[in-house]
Order: sequence, then structure tokens, then C-alpha cells
Amino acid sequence: MKTQLHKDIIADPISHACVLNLYLHGERYPQMVSDYFQWDYAPSRELADQLRLHRNDEYKHERLFQKSLEWIDQPSVDLAIGEGFNEVVRSFTPGTFHIVDRDPPGVQRRKLANFLAHAHFLERRVAGSLSYHADACAASGNDLVAKAVAAVIKDENRHVRYTREFVFDLLTRREARETLDVHRRAEAKANLRFAAKQIDRLMNRFRESTPPTRRLLYRLGSVIMEGAVRYA
Ligand SMILES: [Fe+2]
Ligand SMILES: [Fe+2]
Repeated sequence: MKTQLHKDIIADPISHACVLNLYLHGERYPQMVSDYFQWDYAPSRELADQLRLHRNDEYKHERLFQKSLEWIDQPSVDLAIGEGFNEVVRSFTPGTFHIVDRDPPGVQRRKLANFLAHAHFLERRVAGSLSYHADACAASGNDLVAKAVAAVIKDENRHVRYTREFVFDLLTRREARETLDVHRRAEAKANLRFAAKQIDRLMNRFRESTPPTRRLLYRLGSVIMEGAVRYA
């Protein structure tokens, strides 16, 4: 059932492009903020290297989604920062990740750990969503996009793992569990808000489109809502 919905979305280039543009926005988001990959403040070389690699992976993913849009002959769209999932999660996230030189080492560690916990849940969500997408692309004979998405998933799964590991590395076990819990809850609340926003956005944008496209967009909305429950 779910695979069929994804296949239907992919069969319609406009709805497929909507989904790809949302992924693209997520990959670009770190470039829009100043507090994501602050490796200068990492207390170990290992974490600094992971953060740098992570930043470079997201650049690579940005190019892969741009290419994917070209392959389906659709434009890439610059979404406003508030339209993406990251920003919605942050509206439910207490505090800031932004580190300044005068922060004592303990504060620097906590800010880094909070960023990593935030990223962990985002990465987990995107990896899950992309795997449905990759399966549907492969099943629809959309081989180039399927390959690109599979390459992205491989990296995202690594991001899911290392972000969680370093939360435990930076904090005591108890603090790490509490921190992860704060960001798990922020992500779950954001899922519902985001789903509602996306459905509104799609409906407004495609009000004038043909009935089959509109029907597909309603179904896309229901997939987003399902995703909200699945990853909450
Ligand atoms: Fe990515
Ligand atoms: Fe990632």
C-alpha cells in the first residue's frame, strides 16, 4: 500500500519534485545557520573529523538531489527557511547550539551534545523516509534517482549512528539519556506541525492544477501524515 502510494507520487513529476525539493532543502539547511557543524569546539580529533565529514556529506547530498531534479526535468526550488523540517523542530527545541569562545568547556560540550542529539533524530527521520522513496524509485524504473537516493541513505545511516554515540561520549549516561529525550520529543511534536504545514502549502500551490494532480497531492499529504505517526 505504502509502496504503491510512493510509486504514484513518483509517476507524477510535479509531486515527485515537491518531495525531492523538500529533501534538497534539508540538505541545504546547515548552510543557512551558523550553529550546526562547530568542529573547532570538538573536544576530540575524532569528533571534529566526524563533524567535518558530515558537513561534506550534506554538500554531496545537495548535489545529488539537484541532479535528481534535473533527471526528472523539474526545477529545484529555494524554499523559505521556515518551510523546512529542521526549522520546525527548532521551534520546539529549547536553547541554542551556538558556541562562543567565552563559553566554559562544560557549556561547549553541552551545546555540541544538544546539536548531535537534534541531528540524530533528524537523520533517523530522513533515512527512514528516503528508504521508502528509494524502493519506490527502483520499482518504478527510475534507476538514476534510486541510485542517488541509495547513496544518500548510506551516509545518513552513518550520521544516525555517530551522532548518538557522541552524545554519550560528551555527557554522563544520565545527561545523555535526558538530552536525547528532549530532542526526541521536539522531533515528535514537529512531525505533526510539519505535516499540517506541508499539506497547506501543497494545496495552495496546486489549487489550479488538474484534478489527477490534486488527488495525488492529497494522497501525498496522507503519506506525510503517516510518516508523522511512523517517526513520532
Ligand atoms: Fe543528507
Ligand atoms: Fe545527514
